[in-house]
Amino acid sequence: MLGKADTTRMYNELSALKNFNTCPEQEGITRLLFADEEIMARAYVKQRMVKAGLQVTEDTIGNIYGTLVGSQPELAPVWSGSHIDTVRNAGMYDGTVGVIGALEACRMIRESNAPHRRSIVALIFTSEEPTRFGIGCIGSRTMAGHLSLEQTKSLYDDQGISLFQELERLGYTKMDYGAVRKKKGDVFASVELHIEQASVLERLGCPIGIVEAICAPTYIQVTLEGQQEHAGSTPMNERRDAMAAASEIILKLESLARSHGNNHTVGTIGKFCAYPNSPNVIAGRTEFTIDIRDIDETVKQDMTQKICAYIDNVAMLRNLRARYTVTADDLPCVSAPPIIAAITASCEKRNIPIHKMISGAYHDSLMIAEFAPVAMIFVPSRGGISHDPAEYTSIEEIAAGTEVLADTLLSLSNMNEMGEAEQ
Ligand code: GLV
Ligand code: MN
Ligand code: MN
Repeated sequence: MLGKADTTRMYNELSALKNFNTCPEQEGITRLLFADEEIMARAYVKQRMVKAGLQVTEDTIGNIYGTLVGSQPELAPVWSGSHIDTVRNAGMYDGTVGVIGALEACRMIRESNAPHRRSIVALIFTSEEPTRFGIGCIGSRTMAGHLSLEQTKSLYDDQGISLFQELERLGYTKMDYGAVRKKKGDVFASVELHIEQASVLERLGCPIGIVEAICAPTYIQVTLEGQQEHAGSTPMNERRDAMAAASEIILKLESLARSHGNNHTVGTIGKFCAYPNSPNVIAGRTEFTIDIRDIDETVKQDMTQKICAYIDNVAMLRNLRARYTVTADDLPCVSAPPIIAAITASCEKRNIPIHKMISGAYHDSLMIAEFAPVAMIFVPSRGGISHDPAEYTSIEEIAAGTEVLADTLLSLSNMNEMGEAEQ
């Protein structure tokens, strides 16, 4: 068992990241992929990694690797990381806790002089949030082979700039895109520390959650085209109103998610644009996203099929044109029992109660699970609030999660392929 995390050091780093904010006039933080402030935040973490004695590299999609080299660097490494990009007007803990936590865990291991055979890598995964380019886990998705360089040409932000253009602008396309791809065996194990983003741990008074499985999302991009017309002179029975049609779909998604599946079945329309967006004009076009999540892939597929059929039906009845594209369709994942056992062993030694749970939010670990064993450590979120400026986890709670993470990474770094400890 290692010692204590340095709460002052971690707090200062989390606070420093908070200041890389594109919209400081808002209450919360907005740090979208490859915005100037996000690039500055990357540079800041890289500099902290170098100071901590980690070897820093970056790949063609912008994933950053800070490696604490082990005594047998030829062995598959142990990974820990998360993200530093945010949703719009976010809190300061989503993702950053897992990045600074991994960095602190590496420092704790290095400062303890504990022998570790495998290298331990602290990572920043590129754009876990779908905020700028419409799909999440861009860095880890590329590692898992689900985003080709060609596909980055058709991912656009709200200004019409493609991800590919941004990669070119920043010089990433000069490197070998294929090298981002990871295969089974490249990574021995991966453990992500994250805030819970729900209120289960707080209600139980439990400081540590161990994630046994992660729900996966399906994203659908929808466009409805009707007829833009005068709001005063067009009789109700002659309208082809894209806003009214969208409203029906929004409520249908809510009722489908409520009446289907299980506790983890959820459906959200979080991004919506109406055109021309004027008080006295019937909307001729609406564009919106559908986000469906579940732990059960068959329920998710069923929900997807039902909402798409409903969209077709609404379009037919209202004489609109509907177009929709599934932009991401990910698979739920389960955590690896040996990693869960290592996390549990650390909590037992530290006398910390644990709660085993399912993550309703997705994380980069969902993608990493396609090529490596994964598990996650959750720390409590006050009031269960996240994706909001009010998001809060105390530095002591973050430190407790980091200490468990550090023990776990050290233990995994000295494990052989059979899951046995080796020195
Ligand atoms: C990640 O932030 C998610 O939407 O689950
Ligand atoms: Mn998030
Ligand atoms: Mn996150």
